[in-house]
Amino acid sequence: MAQKLWDKGFSINEEVERFTVGRDPEMDLLLAPYDVLGSMAHITMLESIGLLAADELERLLAELRSIYILARSGWFQIEDGVEDVHSQVELMLTRRLGDVGKKIHSGRSRNDQVLLDLKLFTRAKIQETVTNIVSLIDVLIAQSNRYKEVLMPGYTHLQVAMPSSFGLWFGAYAESLTDDLQLLLAAYKVTNRNPLGSAAGYGSSFPLNRQLTTDLLGFDSMDYNVVYAQMGRGKMERVVSSALASVAATLSKLAFDACMFTSQNFGFIKLAPQYTTGSSIMPHKKNPDVFELTRSKCNKLQAVPQQITLITNNLPSGYYRDLQIIKEVFLPMFDELNDCLKMATNMMREVEVNTEIMKDERYDPIFSVERVNELVLQGVPFRDAYKQVGQVIANGEFVPDKHIHHTHEGSIGNLCNDKIQEMAQSIVSEFHFERVMAAEKKLLSDIENLIK
Ligand code: ARG
Repeated sequence: MAQKLWDKGFSINEEVERFTVGRDPEMDLLLAPYDVLGSMAHITMLESIGLLAADELERLLAELRSIYILARSGWFQIEDGVEDVHSQVELMLTRRLGDVGKKIHSGRSRNDQVLLDLKLFTRAKIQETVTNIVSLIDVLIAQSNRYKEVLMPGYTHLQVAMPSSFGLWFGAYAESLTDDLQLLLAAYKVTNRNPLGSAAGYGSSFPLNRQLTTDLLGFDSMDYNVVYAQMGRGKMERVVSSALASVAATLSKLAFDACMFTSQNFGFIKLAPQYTTGSSIMPHKKNPDVFELTRSKCNKLQAVPQQITLITNNLPSGYYRDLQIIKEVFLPMFDELNDCLKMATNMMREVEVNTEIMKDERYDPIFSVERVNELVLQGVPFRDAYKQVGQVIANGEFVPDKHIHHTHEGSIGNLCNDKIQEMAQSIVSEFHFERVMAAEKKLLSDIENLIK
């Protein structure tokens, strides 16, 4: 069994070990490339304050780079008996470089190391998520523009209510996702601050240069107060998962609409056949399973902020092992949501719209308000017009005029899709992903220069 970083010379009970390590080897694999990047920044800083010699830094960086490549290619492993990713990386360095490998942990604790890994992982995953949200927004806006003339019934209480349109339906979800991007931007700003240097949660007596690691890793700033930096564990995850939960809520509503509208009793849309599944007994079936699973996954994901709240609620400031469990609920969230986003994007791109729905007489009463408004424009007081039209409907004499003319912002005739898209683009530009990418690239290519 590999030695613990904190080995004190007595052997550890295997049951206790299994219990405390838990799912860390699995979860920490997701953090591996970020753990290595963080170590690169940390040791570059250590050299700058005289805690490592230049040649030691050079050797360590070269080794870390090869571990980084291993982690990126998916070959990195946490060996049996090794507690976590932090221990594994240090073990690999000491195996290959001897004592110099043991020097990298000066002025650092696994507490700020895991905080850092989580932040680096999260900001990369937020970038991926934003890209997927934007693709879905683009598809929804394109469909909205394409079908802006096609009317559909709008419902309240699931009773036919007012004329709506496919332009409105598709566009509504594009705008909802745009608001979700706003929440994600706020969450990103909370994420993109450097906790490294807070060590175990109370700083260090070494004269650490925290600004240097902040710059090397492309953070907007640092989490200044070291106690707050540690308090940020769980808070960042809660804030980010709330923003992701908002995306999930938008998707699950879209999925519900899509499942309902594809039912024969509605018949408003048809899903592309490759996104439907069959029945083992009923030969006619084309079921919307993909949207049903999207709905349930996205509903499930909305519990994550609550789970994190419950895990962290009764903890005082400082580090507690409780925090380890957050990784299990938080880390897998991104891939699950991104899977749903990609599926929804493909399905919405290929969905077929029924352009003839409004010919069905059952939707005729939907045009009653249009008739009332017409009378009002002719000078009849609204309440009288309302009664008049009500009487005509009750007598079964209502003949709808299906040519509707809505002009105000956000209405059927004036969707303002360009405004929605502009808003989305302006939010995306505020993430400044380019800064982070440039910093990470520099950190890695500086190493390439060193190796040459
Ligand atoms: N696996 C631990 C976690 O995720 C790493 C930090 C361990 N720190 C400690 N003081 N035991 O929280």
